[in-house]
Amino acid sequence: MKMKKVLVGFAAAGLAVSLAACSGGTRGGGGAAEEGSNDGALVGVAMPTKTSERWVDDGNNVKSSLEELGYKVDLQYANDKVQDQISQIESMLNKGAKALIVASIDGTALTQVLKTAADDDVKVIAYDRLINGTEDVDYYTTFDNQQVGVLQGNSLLQGLGLVDADGKPTGSTEKKTIEVFAGSPDDNNAQFFYDGAMSVLKPFLDSGQVTIGSGQSEFSQVAIQQWKLEGAQARMENLLSGFYGSGQVLDGVLSPYDGLSRGIINALRSSGVADDAMPIITGQDGEKASDKLILDGVQYSTIFKDTRLLGKEAVTMVDDLLNGNEPDAPDSYNNKVKDVPTKQFPPVTVTKENLMEVIVDSGYYSEEEIQKGE
Ligand code: BGC
Repeated sequence: MKMKKVLVGFAAAGLAVSLAACSGGTRGGGGAAEEGSNDGALVGVAMPTKTSERWVDDGNNVKSSLEELGYKVDLQYANDKVQDQISQIESMLNKGAKALIVASIDGTALTQVLKTAADDDVKVIAYDRLINGTEDVDYYTTFDNQQVGVLQGNSLLQGLGLVDADGKPTGSTEKKTIEVFAGSPDDNNAQFFYDGAMSVLKPFLDSGQVTIGSGQSEFSQVAIQQWKLEGAQARMENLLSGFYGSGQVLDGVLSPYDGLSRGIINALRSSGVADDAMPIITGQDGEKASDKLILDGVQYSTIFKDTRLLGKEAVTMVDDLLNGNEPDAPDSYNNKVKDVPTKQFPPVTVTKENLMEVIVDSGYYSEEEIQKGE
């Protein structure tokens, strides 16, 4: 028994030594890898959090697609902590990763660690969220983020009966009161979603047909740190007690993400709003719990982004780069230092009308998963 333990320990130590030697060899060289030497290379995948199910799906999709191509994968989640993400990336580099796929928490906080990556000729793909203020990001793959916001704004207006399915005004003269929420200020996408949505709401706000009940419309006033459900719930509670305490009607809430939408719904429910009397509430990601709320008529819409496409694209980019090929990247996003070559995908609006078709029939989630809400 004792003997066995010792042998296992010895074997493990031997493996660790050979791994260290191997990674030391590749990193120590510092230069470009030899042609064809990247078969079975290690790829680091840094995801922001497990609290939102989309990132769990993204991580799993990316990992399995990389493994199908024979790569080794170090997949890490940073629990929305910037410093943890930096340490995880450092550790991936120390293990000899040849490429990184990074969905950042704070898109401006990775400059130093990505400099180390670049010095070792490690390829870097920004995943869904742009990495800002650095030269050291090679490619970006995402969804059309401005368009996500446009679709959110349009679906709010459609739910309110002010525009039709094509975004054309219906001619309704009814006045509506809304509240506006935005995502985390350190996530580059949050501003895009907000700008896109506000561009659609603007004519209605300017004409006075739509009013923001609290008057809080600036990004800085409506942004929710770290996309936290609890943050949105607390803000909604404050809005309800501060501005809707004397029978004022709230017709709609622009929410940029399903987790925030659920916080908003929690606040409305605890203030006594019945499920069939909810304002029009938007969302994003098609999370299972929100899909159920949409089927039940509580949340109005979500914006579905097929993370299967995104995961595949990021993996294709890595595979191209590690094999000396140029990835297909017809778009570009400016990260304040350079235009990062980008491949982006179209988002899709989902309501009760098309949820089964878009999310269930496509095999993204099963009906049972949605009914369980988890
Ligand atoms: C993503 C959204 C997501 C949000 C919160 C954004 O960067 O693009 O899909 O809802 O982060 O996780």
